[in-house]
Amino acid sequence: MRILRTLMKNASIGKLVDQYSRFSPSPLSMKQFLDFGSENACEKTSFMFLRQELPVRLANIMKEINLLPDNLLRTPSVRLVQSWYIQSLQDILEFKERDANDEKVIFEYVYKHLFTDAVIKIRNRHNDVVPTMAQGVVEYKDTYGTDPITSQNMQYFLDRFYMSRISIRMLLNQHTLLFGGRVRVNPAHPKQIGSIDPHCRVTDVVKDAYENARTLCDRYYMNSPELLLEEFNVKEPTKPITVVYVPSHLYHMVFELFKNAMRATMELCGDAMEYPPICVQITLGNEDLTVKVSDHGGGVPLRKIDRLFTYTYSTAPRPQMDSARAAPLAGYGYGLPISRLYARYFQGDLKLYSLEGYGTDAVIYIRALSTESIERLPVYNKSAWKHYKTIHEADDWCVPSKEPKDMTTFRSI
Ligand SMILES: Nc1ncnc2c1ncn2[C@@H]1O[C@H](COP(=O)(O)OP(=O)(O)OP(=O)(O)O)[C@@H](O)[C@H]1O
Ligand SMILES: [Mg+2]
Repeated sequence: MRILRTLMKNASIGKLVDQYSRFSPSPLSMKQFLDFGSENACEKTSFMFLRQELPVRLANIMKEINLLPDNLLRTPSVRLVQSWYIQSLQDILEFKERDANDEKVIFEYVYKHLFTDAVIKIRNRHNDVVPTMAQGVVEYKDTYGTDPITSQNMQYFLDRFYMSRISIRMLLNQHTLLFGGRVRVNPAHPKQIGSIDPHCRVTDVVKDAYENARTLCDRYYMNSPELLLEEFNVKEPTKPITVVYVPSHLYHMVFELFKNAMRATMELCGDAMEYPPICVQITLGNEDLTVKVSDHGGGVPLRKIDRLFTYTYSTAPRPQMDSARAAPLAGYGYGLPISRLYARYFQGDLKLYSLEGYGTDAVIYIRALSTESIERLPVYNKSAWKHYKTIHEADDWCVPSKEPKDMTTFRSI
């Protein structure tokens, strides 16, 4: 009887996932996020938007989870992640079921904070999605090994899955920060609209991230490189650079880049008493706000640059999963790929340029105009489906053989 009930429940969830995945997610611009939080926007507007948009974003990515290899889907970690997504979809859909358009019911949902409470619960439920999914991938790779095609599919999936999560969290956070408390001002950051700062001072965020990375570096290496910071505001040279952005996203990216730059510098310079500084240039042009973090840590050969953005790729020993220990400086292999997703989320990017033997420039690009900062979201459709199902064919460029051929063979041709 219990098995039957579970099967029926799964079937109906499957139908709902199908139904909502037929809608495409609606990307919001920075301006729309700000309008939601402005004086004349209300909790009801946000509620009406989220009760449709959250199921759509959840269902779109749930369809892709279902396309993962069976053995990966069977790992306890991935099952757990899937159960969180199913539960959250059900939680939101409850707000669509009972007399969905009856004003009285909506009033109850919104003004008794039933919806906001559900949103907070969902946000907390999904706190550990990144390490849990990562654990599933590690379990799968350790048990079944991996081949280039599976690795490629996994990278494709994880980029989309984590991007979807960043976007869903952004929606959940905005709603709870704006409507979760009695007052709509965040006491820690009174000038922010939810998690967005309309006048985010880039230099302050960079310095903050540097100081925190430095504390970690000092703990591991008993020393750390200095920071040299330059700012070029091309439009208004005398004014500090500001941008409409989510400071926590910017912080995340520069903090990861600083940790990497510090580790490379310290590893290269060994026991030297002086270390080359880390140089940061922040520039604001007409289209781009650019943050370049340059180190003299020896760099990486071009052949390896793409690999650095592969999830779990790290040259540091894997850190112990022990919460009592201090946070590690490196080792999970998630720093670069996740930071690049944050940059891309609002149509920016993150790139690495290396001079092997010398050092690395890591560059974050952010859209200078808030009208151009629009969410970049994965959508489940035939092209996405094909990525998982197509049998990859042979490369259409010659693969150089490892053994150099006897040159006399060429001469006789
Ligand atoms: N500035 C740099 N100079 C030299 N190598 C680098 C630099 N940045 C990254 N790398 C290389 O890229 C790898 C991946 O970096 P990434 O930040 O993704 O993971 P990690 O630093 O190893 O671990 P974590 O997830 O904890 O950040 C690093 O292990 C390192 O080998
Ligand atoms: Mg790192």
